[in-house]
Amino acid sequence: MKILVTGGCGQIGSRITEMLLDRGDQVLVIENFATGRREHLPDNHPGLTLVEDTIADKALVDKVTSQFRPDAIVHTAASYKDPDDWHNDTLTNCVGGANLVRAALENDVGRFIYFQTALCYGVKPLEQPITLNHPKLPANSSYAISKTAAEDYIEISGLDYVTFRLANVIGPRNVSGPLPIFYQRISEGKKCFVTTARRDFVFVGDLAKAVIRAIDGTGSGAYHFSSGADVAIKELYDAVVKAMELDEYPEPEVREIGPDDAPSILLDPTRTFEDFGEMEFTPLEETARAGVEYFREFGAAGGYTHLKHED
Ligand SMILES: NC(=O)c1ccc[n+]([C@@H]2O[C@H](COP(=O)([O-])OP(=O)(O)OC[C@H]3O[C@@H](n4cnc5c(N)ncnc54)[C@H](O)[C@@H]3O)[C@@H](O)[C@H]2O)c1
Repeated sequence: MKILVTGGCGQIGSRITEMLLDRGDQVLVIENFATGRREHLPDNHPGLTLVEDTIADKALVDKVTSQFRPDAIVHTAASYKDPDDWHNDTLTNCVGGANLVRAALENDVGRFIYFQTALCYGVKPLEQPITLNHPKLPANSSYAISKTAAEDYIEISGLDYVTFRLANVIGPRNVSGPLPIFYQRISEGKKCFVTTARRDFVFVGDLAKAVIRAIDGTGSGAYHFSSGADVAIKELYDAVVKAMELDEYPEPEVREIGPDDAPSILLDPTRTFEDFGEMEFTPLEETARAGVEYFREFGAAGGYTHLKHED
């Protein structure tokens, strides 16, 4: 197959790209290195074409799509690293998303796969677990608003699409959220804080397996990619400390959650299990260990957060 992957040097995009290359697909990646790293994909792989550019450029997206003629588009690129950078969030997430949807329609792309933030349901969800019937209420963050706009375009497009609304996806190459931040601060001997929030952390490799199946035709419409169970953020902290094999346990400060954070985000995975079958979820300790192994080799540059109050 021929697959166009946006953001293919990011955490999720690179994992999917590797799996596609391993099975012999032709992959074209559009990547601007906002948060992704070149070393996440192989050099000189015969199946891989890497276009260093932005999906916000409509002429570029049109040209690449019409020349490559992909069977599917896997749209992982997103802007989020500066919560005040509304300009780039709208350019990448809204304009870039719309560019890809139009290009997919105009070039008869058979399948479109998207990755949505659970923040599309807002920070005070009306139910727990959150079902797919929950209204979209993407208040409070430029990231959530702009990601939701793109998903809305996909949903009205008439394309054959799957949108995965994600729990917290972590593992090797993770540059945002608590995992790289914990690793970096602990390595530098700095104190960490953990909020009292709970999250469902899922391993990037588990998501990538489901994405490959979606590319190949499983599913249609919106799915929650989540295990259905949450853990305290402190449990992730403990898993990172354990993976780092420190002599002493660095005690974190426990803080109440801030006003733009959600106490828990539990996504109901029922429809996912119905259409994709029961899934195996990698245990948290193993996921944290895989992340720590990666950070030891490549560093934990990034540590981005789209939440304003974390520092
Ligand atoms: N990781 C999570 O927990 C999570 C949760 C919800 C949603 N998502 C979504 O999943 C997708 C992948 O997330 P990730 O964790 O791999 O993040 P990531 O930052 O590792 O990957 C995003 C990639 O997109 C690239 N990119 C950004 N702007 C671009 C542009 N204009 N043109 C081309 N490339 C561009 C970045 O350089 C990066 O390589 C994103 O769409 C994100 O919104 C992730």
